[in-house]
Amino acid sequence: MNELIRKLQTDRDLSDRELATVLQTGDSDDALFAAADAVRQSVYGKAVFVRGLIEFTNYCKNDCYYCGIRRGCKSVQRYRLDRQAILDCCETGYALGYRTFVLQGGEDPYFTDARVCDLVQAVRARFPDCAITLSIGEKPKDSYRAYFESGANRYLLRHETANDAHYAKLHPASLSAENRKRCLWDLKEIGYQVGSGFMVGSPFQTTENLVEDLRFLQRLDPDMIGIGPFIPAPNTPFADKPGGTLALTLRLVAVLRLLFPHALLPATTALGTIHPQGRELGLHAGANVVMPNLSPVDVREKYALYAGQICTGEEAAECRACLEIRVRAAGYEVVTDRGDVRR
Ligand code: 5AD
Ligand code: FES
Repeated sequence: MNELIRKLQTDRDLSDRELATVLQTGDSDDALFAAADAVRQSVYGKAVFVRGLIEFTNYCKNDCYYCGIRRGCKSVQRYRLDRQAILDCCETGYALGYRTFVLQGGEDPYFTDARVCDLVQAVRARFPDCAITLSIGEKPKDSYRAYFESGANRYLLRHETANDAHYAKLHPASLSAENRKRCLWDLKEIGYQVGSGFMVGSPFQTTENLVEDLRFLQRLDPDMIGIGPFIPAPNTPFADKPGGTLALTLRLVAVLRLLFPHALLPATTALGTIHPQGRELGLHAGANVVMPNLSPVDVREKYALYAGQICTGEEAAECRACLEIRVRAAGYEVVTDRGDVRR
């Protein structure tokens, strides 16, 4: 294993077989995390970037088998924030020092291109020094271009799994890995800073699938890579499937840091949900971004992608303060600039 870790730190030229070995070996995790932390230190120092997350609609026309806000989940109380409510969240975030807003939602037909552009233009006009990140799913290229021209800079769209057959086991036939990837290439071509990623331990996932995910990411070369453990969501087809583990998720964070020294890697809420120190452990394994919630507290519980989600009761300011303490205690520093990727 030491030889493989050394390779990951130097030319990063591992075979598929070697990558699989790293993912399956647990007894060298401390050395792997230390190597990842050193690489992150060399590019980003102790900086941890914050992005204010605004979950502005939990309506979704899709029916992904794993997701707690899928169309078929009839128990979900649906909500949408209007333009003013979204701007108010940004205002709160700005006062707390955030310079990146992530507008995330289900694929909600109410938010037509005209409405999305109007929203982005309003945020852009009010917060000219901030990065605007959209995370609203699969759209035609022209739509992505229109949002970009309205002032959006970044787009998050996890590829979920790079393997077509595995993709088909996680999604209904109306969705395909091919279209997902098309979206990501379109976003890059338009000029967005792109974030992709996948769930760790999603149902039917194999080690080979994870290696394919790493290879796809190497081709795409995104600026941000978001991963978190799969966590079963009640009232979904996967409610009884086992969740992804902390150990494998952390190992993947470390491998991603080593393969992508410059990437922005969030210590995700899902990681914080499966372990009380999950996000801190993520930082020690190479993560350098946290995404505190800026959504109004009364809608938080309704945006439940999975069971047990943390931070649903905390006001934005409390979440901000809590994270600051956690990041510092872990030995890192919260940085509140835009946090653009360093290439
Ligand atoms: N467990 C963990 N992550 C999930 N996501 C959706 N449902 C779940 C779940 N049950 C992730 C997906 C999606 C992101 C917004 O949340 O990867 O892209
Ligand atoms: Fe949100 Fe701790 S990070 S409450």
